Amino acid sequence: MSLPTSLSTLELWDETLLTGIPSVDEQHRDIARLGAKMLKETRLPLTSERFGDYFAEFWQLVADHFETEEKLMHTLGLPSEQVDMHTREHSALLERLIQANIHSATVSEWKHVSDIAHELIAIIVDHIIHFDLGLTSATNP
Ligand SMILES: [Fe+2]
Ligand SMILES: [Fe+2]
Repeated sequence: MSLPTSLSTLELWDETLLTGIPSVDEQHRDIARLGAKMLKETRLPLTSERFGDYFAEFWQLVADHFETEEKLMHTLGLPSEQVDMHTREHSALLERLIQANIHSATVSEWKHVSDIAHELIAIIVDHIIHFDLGLTSATNP
């Protein structure tokens, strides 16, 4: 039995990923929602124009979110090393997303949007676990 794709996204994006900071959690949810939509595109080839639109939208959500988070970190009075490390990780992650997109253009035409969606979501979830959840303690000392 295979799970519905939306369920596997929900599993990736469960409440353990909540930072407790409403603006951050809301943006994470928007990214997850788009990821869930992309996961359902099991027949849309990565070579299609619509994948380009999906990727552009995903990229913009993530880039805007990083900007919000970076501004927030400055207002939280976190140690500057922590802010710098987190900000550098955001830049590296945007680069990884670009690489995933470039790579998608060269993969087999048998690959679909749902395939890369798994990869994109995993990158974001990993970042939330290792970096964003650290913001929670800063807002609840
Ligand atoms: Fe972050
Ligand atoms: Fe985040």
